[in-house]
Amino acid sequence: MGPAHPATTGLLRLRRAVTMNASEFRRRGKEMVDYVADYLEGIEGRQVFPDVDPGYLRRLIPTTAPQEPETFEDIIKDVEKIIMPGVTHWHSPYFFAYFPTASSYPAMLADMLCGAIGCIGFSWAASPACTELETVMMDWLGKMLQLPEAFLAGEAGEGGGVIQGTASEATLVALLAARTKVTRRLQAASPELTQAAIMEKLVAYASDQAHSSVERAGLIGGVRLKAIPSDDKFAMRASALQEALERDKAAGLIPFFVVATLGTTSCCSFDNLLEVGPICHEEGLWLHVDAAYAGSAFICPEFRHLLNGVEFADSFNFNPHKWLLVNFDCSAMWVKKRTDLTGAFRLDPVYLRHSHQDSGLITDYRHWQLPLGRRFRSLKMWFVFRMYGVKGLQAYIRKHVQLSHAFEALVRQDTRFEICAEVTLGLVCFRLKGSNKLNEALLESINSAKKIHLVPCSLRDQFVLRFAICSRTVELAHVQRAWEHIQEMAAKVLRAPGEGKAEIKN
Ligand SMILES: Cc1ncc(COP(=O)(O)O)c(C=O)c1O
Repeated sequence: MGPAHPATTGLLRLRRAVTMNASEFRRRGKEMVDYVADYLEGIEGRQVFPDVDPGYLRRLIPTTAPQEPETFEDIIKDVEKIIMPGVTHWHSPYFFAYFPTASSYPAMLADMLCGAIGCIGFSWAASPACTELETVMMDWLGKMLQLPEAFLAGEAGEGGGVIQGTASEATLVALLAARTKVTRRLQAASPELTQAAIMEKLVAYASDQAHSSVERAGLIGGVRLKAIPSDDKFAMRASALQEALERDKAAGLIPFFVVATLGTTSCCSFDNLLEVGPICHEEGLWLHVDAAYAGSAFICPEFRHLLNGVEFADSFNFNPHKWLLVNFDCSAMWVKKRTDLTGAFRLDPVYLRHSHQDSGLITDYRHWQLPLGRRFRSLKMWFVFRMYGVKGLQAYIRKHVQLSHAFEALVRQDTRFEICAEVTLGLVCFRLKGSNKLNEALLESINSAKKIHLVPCSLRDQFVLRFAICSRTVELAHVQRAWEHIQEMAAKVLRAPGEGKAEIKN
């Protein structure tokens, strides 16, 4: 045999250099698991919020990808050198910002398996296990929440659940499906009506406390969204919604969609579903319930009453990826009538068809969502639900709620502070009695010290600090330390010139 062609030799060398084979993957995988476990075990020792300035990372890495393969060792070294200094440690027990984002070892392991299987489960045939496990997991979860039977797929139900990427997508999908449904209904009654003429008059509604993703769904969906003034508990009530509906109908507009929020982002308030639901039902409006954060708590019988009224909803959504130990992304959405979604978004190119699609026995999730591609996300639910059990998950939720009440009690003992909204689950809204400026200074001093991390909200024009119980590993001692730190920072800002006693009396 003559010498190998230079191109072949080059290719072989390249393949040897770039391919991580199974035996190296085993070794590196174990190292990576150790790295991850060390990271999470030692996370408390890392500063919760990074010190870097904007653009820090660009200065640390080349401007183009390497021409020649690099080694795993070099990459992992750079993780500590380049990535970690710029990470906000969401799973630190000193992270109390936003809402929690879920993290658990079973979910991480399931995600690894999801990556390995690497299927794209847009239809049943594209990977039957991916589709079928999702349908069953959504039924399991629906039962954990005691959702009305109508939302479950069961053997032959009309409803069912789907995993969306985020609550924002779920709201958008619901709004688009509702838009299609009302348009078809109006056109069936008056065939001369154009879609444009209908769209111009459609109105959606949500409380003034709803998440910005609801307004965004309106923008993307090309329909007006009206904010309903919430009551003194930051809840949407029947009277305010009814008033808006009457006004808009009298003006020739067409109300079609209402979003009720259970557990608002600012202060975890709850729209009055038992009042709003019947109105939507009577008026023939699609009711979507967004319980992005709070939904996880409804697996506990003592919090289930907060979901009462969901029987009036057409769609319901919450994020197990926030508070149910299933790592991002996993946003659980149920509809009572799956044909509302599949009828609105169905397209059937030849290359996606399969022989079972019209059998009535299977689900093709591509018709339930915006993208075509979808990961095997139900594996994460399966692993987590089995390894924690419902009891373990309930205990986890309860612990967080107890910790938030412990924090609330600490705040109430200090007369310089006030609690700004009812504490129901794992979020406490509080502030120093005094001006917005004073509270902005307090938050600024807390976040620049970087011992804990908080974000603010605005409640009726008041600048308020939010303390959300977030980390899986947070304990009472962390909450107490955080409170002592907040008190120290408060003393500092109150001592600053121009602040002090006069402010507190305001
Ligand atoms: C009530 C509510 N709805 C929607 C969202 C948006 O969630 P996602 O990031 O899943 O779109 C949030 C985020 O915190 C939220 O609190």
